[in-house]
Amino acid sequence: MASPASDLRAEPDPSVAELLAARAQLRMDPFEGLMLEEVALRTVADALGTPVWVTSAGTLRGRYRQLADALDEAGLDAQLHYAVKANDHLAVLRVLQAEGAGADVVSAGELRRALLAGIAPDRIVFSGVGKSDDELMLALDSSIAQINVESREELDRLSVLADGAGRVARVVLRVNPDVDANTHAKISTGRAGDKFGIAHDEAPGLYALAATLPAIEPIGFAVHIGSQIADPAPFRAAYARVAALVRQVRAAGHAVSTVDCGGGLGIGYRDEPAGSPRALAHAIRLTLGGLGLRLLLEPGRWLAAPAGVLLSRVVRVKRQAEGPPFVVLDCAMNDLLRPSLYDSWHGVVPLSARDAVAPALPVHLVGPVCETGDTLARGRLMPELSCGARVAILDTGAYGSVMSSTYNARPLAAQALVDGARWATIRPRQPVAALWAGESVPDWIAAAGAGTAG
Ligand code: LLP
Repeated sequence: MASPASDLRAEPDPSVAELLAARAQLRMDPFEGLMLEEVALRTVADALGTPVWVTSAGTLRGRYRQLADALDEAGLDAQLHYAVKANDHLAVLRVLQAEGAGADVVSAGELRRALLAGIAPDRIVFSGVGKSDDELMLALDSSIAQINVESREELDRLSVLADGAGRVARVVLRVNPDVDANTHAKISTGRAGDKFGIAHDEAPGLYALAATLPAIEPIGFAVHIGSQIADPAPFRAAYARVAALVRQVRAAGHAVSTVDCGGGLGIGYRDEPAGSPRALAHAIRLTLGGLGLRLLLEPGRWLAAPAGVLLSRVVRVKRQAEGPPFVVLDCAMNDLLRPSLYDSWHGVVPLSARDAVAPALPVHLVGPVCETGDTLARGRLMPELSCGARVAILDTGAYGSVMSSTYNARPLAAQALVDGARWATIRPRQPVAALWAGESVPDWIAAAGAGTAG
C-alpha cells in the first residue's frame, strides 16, 4: 500500500526549536508555554477547550504590510484584494479591511461577508467558474469593482442580466495561460484542461466582443495559476502571457486599464522555501510594469496561514507491538481537512514548555474520525506526548476552519482572536444540538416509528 509522503522522507522532521525559529509570531516561554503574540495559548485552551482555532491579528497586519511594502518598493500601482476563501471570519476580514485590503470573493456568501466587514464595494472583485444568476445579480446590485468572467457563456449571461437590470458590468476576462505552477494537482488552476479561465488564444476575440456589448465594459484581464507557489518562475511566465495579451488588445484599439494578478504565493509549512513577496513583486514589475496598468493581487494563504494555529489535546496514546504509537488527538479531518485532502504537512508543537523538550520519537498523529485518511502525520518525529497533553497545529490560519465540516456529528470548533496581549472568543464551539436543529422527520416516518423505540 502506498504510504503518505511523510513515511518516506529522508530528512528528519524539523525540531520544535526549528519550527519556532522560523515563525516570529510564536515563541516558547519557559513558564507560560507556547505564546502567540503575547498570549499564552494554554489560557485559550483552558477557557474554550479543544479543538480551538486561534488567529493572530498582529500577524495578519504584519504580513499585509510586508506584502504591500514589497509592491510599493517595486514601484507598482497595486492593490491587495484578500482572497476571502482562505479565512472568511468577520474579525479576520475586519483586521485586513482596516489595513486597506479589498476582497476577492467567489460566492454570494463571501460577497455578503466582505460587505458586512466594511469592505467597500469598489474594492471587491468576484471570481469563480460557476456564478449563478443570483450571484451575478448581487454583484451588479452591489456595484462591486469588477466581475472576473471565466467563459464566453458567463459573459453572454452577464450581458443579458446587466442589460435587463439597466446596469453596466465592469468585467475582466480571466485567462488560462497554460502555465504549470508545479504545485499540488488539486490546487493547480492555470493549465490548459483545468476548468478555470478563458483559453489564451480566445481571449482577444472575446475582449473585442465584450467591447461591443452595451451592458459590458471590459477593463482588463485576470490570471490565477494555482496556490502554494514559492518559485517566481511560473508567476513570471503567466504574467508575461497576460502582458502580451494587453499589448495585443490595445493594438487592436481597445482600452485595457486593469490586470488582476491573482493569488498563489506559498508559505513554508515544513522546511521548504516560502514564497517571497519581493520576488513576486519583481516578477510583476518585469512583465507588467511600465504598461500603465492598475494592478490587483488576490493573496489568501500567504497572508492568513501563518496567522493561525489549531489547538488540540491528546485523547489517547495507542501503542502497537511494532511501529510508532498512534497519538489520537481530539481534532480530526472534519476540523483540518488539508492533510487528508492534499497530504499536506503541518508543524505540531506542544503547548507546554516541558512537553516540548521531551525526547523526540516517531509517532502517527491521527484524529478520532472513522477513516484511515483521518491522519495528520505518519511517522512524525516529535516530542513524546502523553494523554492530556495539548498541541498547536501550525499554519492553519488559511484553508483551516473554512474547510471544516461536521462529519461524524462533530460540532464546529471554537475560534479565538489574539491581538497583542489581548484575546477574545470570536466564535463559540457549536453546540451539539445545533447539528440537528434544522432537521425534521416527515410525519408519516415519525408515525411509523412511534411506539417501537425503547
Ligand atoms: N484567487 C483565486 C481566483 C483563487 O482561486 C484563489 C485560491 C486565490 C486567489 C487565493 O490563492 P492563495 O493566495 O490562497 O494561494 N484549499 C487549498 C487551497 C485552494 C486555493 C483555491 N483558490 C489548500 O488548502 O491548500
